[in-house]
Formats: sequence, C-alpha cells, structure tokens
Amino acid sequence: MAIEIKVLRRGDEGILANVAPEVFDNPIDPDLAREFVSDPRHHIAVAIDGGVVVGFASAVHYFHPDKRPELWINEVAVAPTHQRRGLGKGVMRALFDVGKAHGCTGAWVLTDRGNAAAMALYASVGGTGGADESAPEAATLGYSFAL
Ligand SMILES: CC(C)(COP(=O)(O)OP(=O)(O)OC[C@H]1O[C@@H](n2cnc3c(N)ncnc32)[C@H](O)[C@@H]1OP(=O)(O)O)[C@@H](O)C(=O)NCCC(=O)NCCS
Repeated sequence: MAIEIKVLRRGDEGILANVAPEVFDNPIDPDLAREFVSDPRHHIAVAIDGGVVVGFASAVHYFHPDKRPELWINEVAVAPTHQRRGLGKGVMRALFDVGKAHGCTGAWVLTDRGNAAAMALYASVGGTGGADESAPEAATLGYSFAL
C-alpha cells in the first residue's frame, strides 16, 4: 500500500494516536493533539503507512503588520524504518502548500550544523542559506524557502 502524505485538520487528531517509534520526542497527548490540529495557524503534515504515522513536519504561520505572513517549520522527523524514501520531502512540500494557501511567500527552518540528513533534506526542497560564512563557527544553521 502506498504511503499517504496528509495535512491534518480539525477532527484528525485521532490519526496521531498511532505513531511509529522515534517519530515524536514524547508520547502524543490527546488534548494537545486536538488543540494543535484545531488551531488555524499551526500546521502538521504526516506520512501514514498502513494506519501508522511514520513521519511528520509541523509549522506555524505568523503575521507582521507590514509584510506577508511567513511559515516557520518547527519540527521534521521520519521513523528510522522509513528514512531515505522521500517522506521528509513529502511532508515538507505538503507544509509549503499549506503556507502558500495562507498567503506566505517564504518559509524557514533551523537545524544543527552537524545534522547532515536535515541539511540534505532542506537543500533538496529548495532551501537556501545553510552555512553562514559570516559566522563559520555557528552551531545552528538557517534555511529559507521561497514559496
Ligand atoms: C532529516 C530527516 C527528517 C530526513 O527524512 P527522510 O525521509 O529520510 O528524507 P528524504 O528521504 O525525503 O531525503 C531528502 C534528501 O535528503 C537526503 N538525505 C536524507 N538523509 C540523508 C543522510 N542521512 N545523509 C545524506 N543525505 C540524506 C536524501 O538523499 C534526499 O536527497 P535528494 O533529494 O537529493 O535525493 C530524517 O533523517 C530524520 O527524521 N532525522 C531525525 C530527526 C531530525 O534530525 N530532524 C531534523 C531536525 S532540524
């Protein structure tokens, strides 16, 4: 069966009741899951394999009084059993579509300089930035995406 990429909406919190190991940092709290998927500015895209969530990316879109809204990618993770199959790209692109639908013209994310998988993922979906030559010792890298 094909793995489904799905953006969760209000009422979809039950999908987060069945999650593969090492996808989220902590067990899902049903009340927090309901609050998250019900909030109009918080977004989560999941990869589902046979009813089990095997990957996700979460984000929030925020406003300025003088600029277009932006999408901040908060977390991205794929179960070790399902990595290197394009699911990281799939959930990122699903969030980009959500951002565009909310009028965002850009997205951004932070990662650690030592996280080769994350850096490769962000570059593969069009991220620019990464290594900051003005701060070569910085442990944290930022990537920007044009939506
Ligand atoms: C980062 C992570 C989400 C990538 O997920 P994934 O589903 O394996 O990524 P994809 O299969 O979509 O791969 C995307 C690109 O990254 C590359 N890539 C993925 N893992 C890689 C690795 N370990 N080393 C080098 N390149 C890697 C892929 O080859 C692909 O490149 P391509 O498009 O040029 O072919 C996953 O490794 C993970 O969950 N890591 C632990 C959590 C984490 O560090 N999250 C990021 C926090 S900022």
